[in-house]
Amino acid sequence: MAAPVRYLTGITTTGTPHLGNYVGAIRPAVQASRAAGTENFYFLADYHALIKCDEPARIQRSTLEIAACWLAAGLDPEQVFFYRQSDIPEIPELTWLLTCVTGKGLLNRAHAYKAQVDKNTAAGVDPDTDVTAGLFMYPVLMAADILMFKAHRIPVGRDQVQHIEMARDMAQSFNHLYGEHMVLPEAAIDESVALLPGLDGRKMSKSYDNVIALFGPPEQIRKQIFSIVTDSRAPGEPKAVEGSALFQIYQAFASPQETQQLRQAYADGIAWSDAKQLLFERIDREIAPMRARYEHLVNHPAELEQVLQAGAAKARRRATPLLAELRHAVGLRNLASAAGAAKKDKARAALPTFKQYREDDGLFHFKFVDAQGRLLLQSAGFASPKEAGQFIAQLKQSASAPQLGDRATLADGVALAEVNAALQALADASN
Ligand code: TRP
Repeated sequence: MAAPVRYLTGITTTGTPHLGNYVGAIRPAVQASRAAGTENFYFLADYHALIKCDEPARIQRSTLEIAACWLAAGLDPEQVFFYRQSDIPEIPELTWLLTCVTGKGLLNRAHAYKAQVDKNTAAGVDPDTDVTAGLFMYPVLMAADILMFKAHRIPVGRDQVQHIEMARDMAQSFNHLYGEHMVLPEAAIDESVALLPGLDGRKMSKSYDNVIALFGPPEQIRKQIFSIVTDSRAPGEPKAVEGSALFQIYQAFASPQETQQLRQAYADGIAWSDAKQLLFERIDREIAPMRARYEHLVNHPAELEQVLQAGAAKARRRATPLLAELRHAVGLRNLASAAGAAKKDKARAALPTFKQYREDDGLFHFKFVDAQGRLLLQSAGFASPKEAGQFIAQLKQSASAPQLGDRATLADGVALAEVNAALQALADASN
């Protein structure tokens, strides 16, 4: 069987999930978690929450509510890895290892940090006003979340893509310095997932104060739905589905057939109040069965705590051995193991090399071999060692696009890209 593809998603524990989170993140994630050939990691990013929120009670409450939402929505903790970030001490430890291979310049370019600096500059105050080191380091913590579990694919919104690319950069730097320990992650953006409009037609978001609650008393949800902004068309007047937030929200829950029926009802002049009642009932049909489970969990936090503890133990069975490997790789080691390890470091640190020699025909040749001794290039014969040397120097200078001409040929099964990479490694090492 093929190795599983690992998906990983973090959920920052500030706030309470609303319908937009459900449609845009929770529901697709729960569905995806059942796909064969995958391993799925979902965690409560409570260390990340500390960057934005200094109210302990809110952090705790939000962690409780978000965990309850995901389980109520059908996430099966037996089938996936479901844990709380702060229960995995390996994550902050990995954060430090990554911090030490991350250029400060890379972090300077992070959107969230830059936005705050730009705002401060525009306001004429010190550029670092309200910038904690936590905000600055946010991408490193996030990279640790991802790299800790060798995740391949990270389902995120567009605003997070830069963070995934940074995680990739950090993984690359680490691998370059210490050997191939990290898997390079990729962002996975699902274009088919609906962006739910909120009550006022803009994207549903807590910062716009236009959300519909996911769980909560049905009466409250009904009231929110009845406050969706509509136009002033009277009952009996045909209504447009284009630009109708009500219609779009309905569509996110309805089957194609149901959607078609509402489209017809719009054309037939359904009263807005009747359309809102339909929407309320349709949403309730999907959410009501989950509500009981949600309420139960929120009212039995010890049960939830147990689920999270079990999830942490399961996740740490992956994290602990990997962190041990990484500690060893960087040299945080048991002193008694030093002698043997040093030899291996040396072998790993070996670089590709040019080996020059003289052939029976009297001509001067070279081979280019990689760090493991595999033949990459075989040269033709040169009249003098100097000419061979000049060509080698030329190759070294043109690491990104070596011109081989007829003076050297790729060894069997070797791609030009591998030669590029090896030349690049040499160039990097001499810089
Ligand atoms: N930064 C993410 C957000 O705000 C949350 C998050 C933290 C995350 N760690 C992660 C997402 C790792 C994906 C992978 O949405």
